[in-house]
Amino acid sequence: MPSDFDTFVFDAYGTLFDVYSVRVAADRIYPGRGEALAKLWRDKQVEYTRLISLADPSGAHGSRHYMTFWEITERALDFSLRALGLDASRKHQSELMAQYERLSAFPEVLPVITKLHKAGHQLFILSNGNQAMLDKAVTSAELSGLFHRVIGVDALRQFKILPAVYDLIFQANPVPRERVLFISSNGWDVLGANWYGLNTFWVNRQGLPFETLGPVPNFTGRDLGGLLALGAGQG
Ligand code: LAC
Repeated sequence: MPSDFDTFVFDAYGTLFDVYSVRVAADRIYPGRGEALAKLWRDKQVEYTRLISLADPSGAHGSRHYMTFWEITERALDFSLRALGLDASRKHQSELMAQYERLSAFPEVLPVITKLHKAGHQLFILSNGNQAMLDKAVTSAELSGLFHRVIGVDALRQFKILPAVYDLIFQANPVPRERVLFISSNGWDVLGANWYGLNTFWVNRQGLPFETLGPVPNFTGRDLGGLLALGAGQG
């Protein structure tokens, strides 16, 4: 392995936190439609981050159109409910957003992160999320204290995959690039990190082909356990 890696930077949503776990709550409210809603909600949320950054990628104080990932998530939910012809009442939206605030972590996350932490590695989260939302997610998944820093995009007011967001890693922790491994389940995020010049580990939870636009990840695994298979838990 990659024993040279001592800094592990994780994407949050979809990688540590199961964004599709909201489908269970959604299914209770809209029987049989939970899966479709969870998928469209996620797709629209990611699309909105891209629209906002693309419209003003080099704004001196971030994108003029910036809104937090939390607000984007609310608006994406509102859109998705209407698009699917589901009851978009405030009551249902609040219930689903409350669920989003405490997403489950994937089952292997806590044991793997704990092992990496104990092995003495520096662990970071780099997410399009805003700090308050990320901090709540980390706490409710019982991951507090395991990460050196949780980096959101509040200060930058831009979203991945703009290179300025990946720069935040080195602003938080000035280490040589070759010691950093970036880990994400989102193919587009891994591609962005590859283009930026990071070493990457793709968590291919859904058994998808990798994006066909550019360089492929250095490593791929079905879940975070793949990191331990690389020897990363041995310190
Ligand atoms: C993240 C998302 C968008 O940056 O997956 O956490």
